[in-house]
Amino acid sequence: MMVSFFKGVAAAIIAVSISCHAAAVNKQNIALETSPMLESIDWHKYVRSPATPIVKPQAVLSANITGDVAGPNGLLDGSGSSTVLSRKRTDDKVPSVVIDFGQNVVGMVSIDFAGSTNSSEGYPGLKLAFSETQQFLTNNSDFTRSDNMPADDKLTNGTDQIAVANAPYTWKNKAGCQHDRKVCSDGLHGFRYMRIWLDALESDAPYTQSYGSVSISNIELEWSGYLGTPDTFTGWFECSDEDLTQWWFDGVYTADMGTDTFLANETDPRDSATPTLEGKEVLFDGAKRDRDPYLGDLGVAALTSYLSHDNAESVRNILADLAEHQRDDGWIPPASINNYTLNLYDYPMWWVVCTVDMVMYTGDTGFAIKYYSVMQKVLDNYYGHNLTTTGGLLNKTNGYGDYAFLPRSGVITYYNALYAHALKSAAKLADLLGHGNDHNTWTSRAMDINQKLLVRNWDASVGAFYDGGPCPNEPGDSICDVHAQDGNGLAVIAGTVNCSLATTLLDYYGNATALPYGNAFYDSDSLEDGFSQRVYAFISYFELVARFTTPGAETSAYEEIRRLFGWMSTHDPEVTFWEGIGPNGSPYEDGFTSMAHGWSTGIVPLMSNYVLGIKPTGPGFETWEICPIVDGGNLTWARGQVGTPQGPVQVSWSKKDHTFDLYINTPKGTSGVICVPKMGLEDSQTFVDGERIKDTETVGIENSSAASGGRYQVIKAEGGSHHISVGI
Ligand SMILES: *[C@@H]1O[C@H](CO)[C@@H](O)[C@H](O)[C@H]1NC(C)=O
Ligand SMILES: *[C@@H]1O[C@H](CO)[C@@H](O)[C@H](O)[C@H]1NC(C)=O
Ligand SMILES: *[C@@H]1O[C@H](CO)[C@@H](O)[C@H](O)[C@H]1NC(C)=O
Ligand SMILES: *[C@@H]1O[C@H](CO)[C@@H](O)[C@H](O)[C@H]1NC(C)=O
Ligand SMILES: *[C@@H]1O[C@H](CO)[C@@H](O)[C@H](O)[C@H]1NC(C)=O
Ligand SMILES: *[C@@H]1O[C@H](CO)[C@@H](O)[C@H](O)[C@H]1NC(C)=O
Ligand SMILES: *[C@@H]1O[C@H](CO)[C@@H](O)[C@H](O)[C@H]1NC(C)=O
Ligand SMILES: *[C@@H]1O[C@H](CO)[C@@H](O)[C@H](O)[C@H]1NC(C)=O
Ligand SMILES: *[C@@H]1O[C@H](CO)[C@@H](O)[C@H](O)[C@H]1NC(C)=O
Ligand SMILES: *[C@@H]1O[C@H](CO)[C@@H](O)[C@H](O)[C@H]1NC(C)=O
Ligand SMILES: *[C@@H]1O[C@H](CO)[C@@H](O)[C@H](O)[C@H]1NC(C)=O
Ligand SMILES: *[C@@H]1O[C@H](CO)[C@@H](O)[C@H](O)[C@H]1NC(C)=O
Repeated sequence: MMVSFFKGVAAAIIAVSISCHAAAVNKQNIALETSPMLESIDWHKYVRSPATPIVKPQAVLSANITGDVAGPNGLLDGSGSSTVLSRKRTDDKVPSVVIDFGQNVVGMVSIDFAGSTNSSEGYPGLKLAFSETQQFLTNNSDFTRSDNMPADDKLTNGTDQIAVANAPYTWKNKAGCQHDRKVCSDGLHGFRYMRIWLDALESDAPYTQSYGSVSISNIELEWSGYLGTPDTFTGWFECSDEDLTQWWFDGVYTADMGTDTFLANETDPRDSATPTLEGKEVLFDGAKRDRDPYLGDLGVAALTSYLSHDNAESVRNILADLAEHQRDDGWIPPASINNYTLNLYDYPMWWVVCTVDMVMYTGDTGFAIKYYSVMQKVLDNYYGHNLTTTGGLLNKTNGYGDYAFLPRSGVITYYNALYAHALKSAAKLADLLGHGNDHNTWTSRAMDINQKLLVRNWDASVGAFYDGGPCPNEPGDSICDVHAQDGNGLAVIAGTVNCSLATTLLDYYGNATALPYGNAFYDSDSLEDGFSQRVYAFISYFELVARFTTPGAETSAYEEIRRLFGWMSTHDPEVTFWEGIGPNGSPYEDGFTSMAHGWSTGIVPLMSNYVLGIKPTGPGFETWEICPIVDGGNLTWARGQVGTPQGPVQVSWSKKDHTFDLYINTPKGTSGVICVPKMGLEDSQTFVDGERIKDTETVGIENSSAASGGRYQVIKAEGGSHHISVGI
């Protein structure tokens, strides 16, 4: 895009066009070799993916063995030694063993049986239960697909059953039954722990019995998600803090677990199966549950997917399918569940935001052209239509829910700020596609909403936005004295507030809601009990973006990140990030909670888009910005890469007391802006490729998503390798 990113008077503008030095060798390697910070790159050690699609258990929990279990460690090595579970008489304890895959995994378990012996009529039966956490591994799985099925369709009541034949063979956990509706199994599971015990359901007689002995020579899992081995990473991140680095890779692994083929027998059974997605790769919201792709979740999970494996196929399939199911009034279903009729109010706006993101990361303008009228219908018909009758703001009057199934009504801050954000995103796309009228209409509507929202919902008494609706059982136009993370975070992103109000809002919100495991999504329980103790990493992401982009709030972003991601990474199942966190840092919906949820992987875009500062500003990164956040926190260096259709964008920065170095490498033929941090120094000198450039007054980057506040000098650059240093 040829627009200028500078504001202010001419004298204040630095616009250095840096041409790259022609050389017959790969620029990427030059940057790597010449950057001292890119020596000894060893991010591979942080990758969580199994090395192969066949995954072996890591441990047998010896404290949890009961009954007659011989050679339990035979379950681990597959080396030929077998584990034997035996039970002869009623008063013998049930033999049972718990195995641990070491981290959350997803796929189909298979078991090599070395043989079995019957005790009387019927094969000995085995039961299996799966769980992401030890806490919820009872005699039933923490969640299994049948839990969500109507009684008539249920295959199981929470355990998978096997009738173990006498001769050696391999059993694979397919969804289905060994005999009509008997000896049944749910098939695919997302779990870390698996309990195996010798037992039979009475209803499975005469095929199985609770006695006999079973010999197991090997157990393994066939991985079904995206196998994110090191060679699949087109993007990566590393910094001076090993926790942040590890969490970035943990976030990628979490999203990878939910990236899978859509299959009728594996998706959420509540009327989600659909011929238009069958067999296609999608990004599910979670690995264990719900295994249906949801639009809002993509607001974060899709970014993780682009930034790690440059994988857009799984996102594009969903955006296209849901667009094809747009309702006549412009509403887009949030997912295929309930045959595309689950009533969520905010998700059509996420379709808009995610579609624009997808075009920016992939350059797929064909998609944008094809579905442009869908976008118009969402923004103008579904939402825009009602504005005139409600004083220019969205006043939700229907019973629709949202990402947290809150049936909030009234002039809610979150819906309005998200609408302004979606309008601004769409305006960018309209501009690219030559729809000047829409660009102008949507831009001015966003500004109008922002102004009115500030007037209507700003609570000057605390310095933050009200949630905006009435308290339960109060009149429709009253405002409840309650403040929410979603509206406050999105309002900063949508530009509803300036930097000084953003600072106030973030200070209020952080102080009012900080918990050892993150910031709560409400500052009180006025709407529902427990809300002030509940944390969603999903909606926290937008508050964290607000903190990184508000000068002076960066340290509070790091601090919140440590509580939120630090908590999840140190509590069972560790490694993967949870759907929601409840009182005392527990899984918020007990065993039903998905402990590997793509929407909770905001650490990935936070580090790649903000700490490295790499973002597309034009389709497919034809233009970009590199605006690293180097203030706040403790980082002394950060480096990494983002894959783009034209090759990698690489960034490496380091800072010491009075110096800052930034190495960048971008594909030839692209161009963009580099934000050079001023390091809080009055008299800093900036060198670009060894040449000193003049110091300037503060130059903001109003059009950049990284807020200005005088943090940066902005330099225009062509693609290639550059070294920028700042010092006094
Ligand atoms: C064990 O029981 C199964 C199922 O009834 C039967 O088919 C099999 O022949 C029995 N095995 C022996 C050794 O009796
Ligand atoms: C295993 O045993 C320990 C110690 O009794 C207990 O705390 C834990 O919950 C058990 N885990 C499972 C999965 O049963
Ligand atoms: C789990 O199963 C074992 C063996 O059948 C039984 O002794 C125990 O009471 C069961 N526990 C629960 C909580 O149902
Ligand atoms: C589940 O349990 C209920 C109640 O015990 C029983 O009626 C039903 O048949 C069971 N269903 C399956 C699939 O085992
Ligand atoms: C679901 O069906 C497909 C074939 O349509 C099969 O490949 C897959 O293994 C099945 N999944 C389960 C969990 O049984
Ligand atoms: C889903 O909805 C469509 C359109 O209303 C209808 O044609 C179709 O029969 C429904 N499918 C099911 C399984 O109910
Ligand atoms: C617009 O208003 C109508 C009724 O006045 C209502 O049914 C509809 O849900 C509203 N649409 C939105 C997006 O709020
Ligand atoms: C929003 O709509 C409800 C229901 O029609 C109405 O009671 C309320 O006054 C409206 N709120 C505003 C601020 O217009
Ligand atoms: C920020 O916005 C508020 C409310 O519109 C205004 O009072 C304040 O002066 C603005 N601050 C700055 C620094 O522009
Ligand atoms: C609380 O507010 C102060 C300013 O009053 C701010 O410095 C601090 O970062 C806030 N705390 C949190 C946890 O956001
Ligand atoms: C800085 O590092 C220390 C030690 O690791 C940590 O306790 C602290 O929370 C960090 N501060 C921030 C803002 O990240
Ligand atoms: C962004 O850039 C455009 C084109 O230079 C300019 O018209 C606009 O005012 C700038 N600011 C914002 C906030 O869009």
